[in-house]
Amino acid sequence: MLVLGIETSCDETAAAVVSGRHVLSDVVHSQIELHAEFGGVVPELASRDHLKNAEPVIRAALARAEVGLTDIDAIAVTCRPGLSGALLVGTQLAQALAWSQDKPLVGVDHLVGHLLAVQLEFPGREPSPAVPFPYVGLLASGGHTALYRVDGPLPSDIAELGGTRDDAAGEAYDKVAKLLGLGYPGGPIVDKLAQEGDPDGVELSIPMAQKDSLEFSFSGLKTNVMRWVHEHGKPDNDKNLRDLCAAFQRRVVDTLIGKALVAAERQSIDTIVLGGGVAANSELRLRGVELCRARKVRLVVPPFAACTDNAAMIAYAGAALVQAGGDDRGRLTISPKTILPRLTQKGGGARVSASPRPLRAR
Ligand code: KG4
Ligand code: ZN
Repeated sequence: MLVLGIETSCDETAAAVVSGRHVLSDVVHSQIELHAEFGGVVPELASRDHLKNAEPVIRAALARAEVGLTDIDAIAVTCRPGLSGALLVGTQLAQALAWSQDKPLVGVDHLVGHLLAVQLEFPGREPSPAVPFPYVGLLASGGHTALYRVDGPLPSDIAELGGTRDDAAGEAYDKVAKLLGLGYPGGPIVDKLAQEGDPDGVELSIPMAQKDSLEFSFSGLKTNVMRWVHEHGKPDNDKNLRDLCAAFQRRVVDTLIGKALVAAERQSIDTIVLGGGVAANSELRLRGVELCRARKVRLVVPPFAACTDNAAMIAYAGAALVQAGGDDRGRLTISPKTILPRLTQKGGGARVSASPRPLRAR
């Protein structure tokens, strides 16, 4: 089945053509430069830019896959979570294409896409076997950070095990970078500096250290960095800056992997899969594999292109919905919230501990 995927939920306009696990084309137009001077995504600018680029990006994806619109069997589009205006551009365009071609259309949850992205086979890369279900999905992006039990490709196969009570991991990277005057998005910049720093050179607290909790909290760590800057002044591009970035990164990586390992153990699952933009982080990928190996758990790290926002993961997740008989033509709605039920409430509410028994997906 040839599926055209469309993704416009935040600051990437993306389209892809996917057949099964095979990515035939994957086109991403990033808006990073557009938003950089504001230090974060400006929703109105994002919508206008999607409007300008969605059509050429879709045309490019079809051309690169060497297929026409009439060859496509189904269309999948991100319908949640994301910026409303941005989501509307993609979903309206997808509806028009689906009606004009008389092909099924499915709305895909962006987080489900990230959790399944590991299954994709990109052209020019060594073929790899599909990752068997169930696995623990560690999703860390700019807007979300949570652990999931993934029993299959449908949203009903996926259950949250715990998430962040405040900032997402990527958001913490972006805020720390802003604080240090390093630019946007912060993740890749802090990552690069951290690689040359000493993670023990600066003392920072361990975020949400309670061993039995599968919840995250990164705002305290960010405040810790802020306090350090107040006390020592803003570090220039010198050893102090690199050490501060390295210490911050070490805390984030150890927290993410440590909690993913607790989740895997409690669920009796021996595979953890990374997803989301922060999964592009060099230390998370390298140190993560080592930390997991020491506990006899396999950490599966998707290629970079599968970690950051793309439409191939949307097409792949959409194919499962189409196979299950889905067709949202005429009733596709958008939402800023994920369809996956949330266990952790942001801000307040009761703490979630890891369940001692394996938790079956609904
Ligand atoms: O998944 P994504 O592309 O968009 C969202 O759905 O949010 O993730 C973007 C986030 C940003 O916060 C960015 O700073 C972070 O991923 N990021 C990284 C790295 N590359 C991107 N964080 C840490 N290290 C990186 N190398
Ligand atoms: Zn994303």
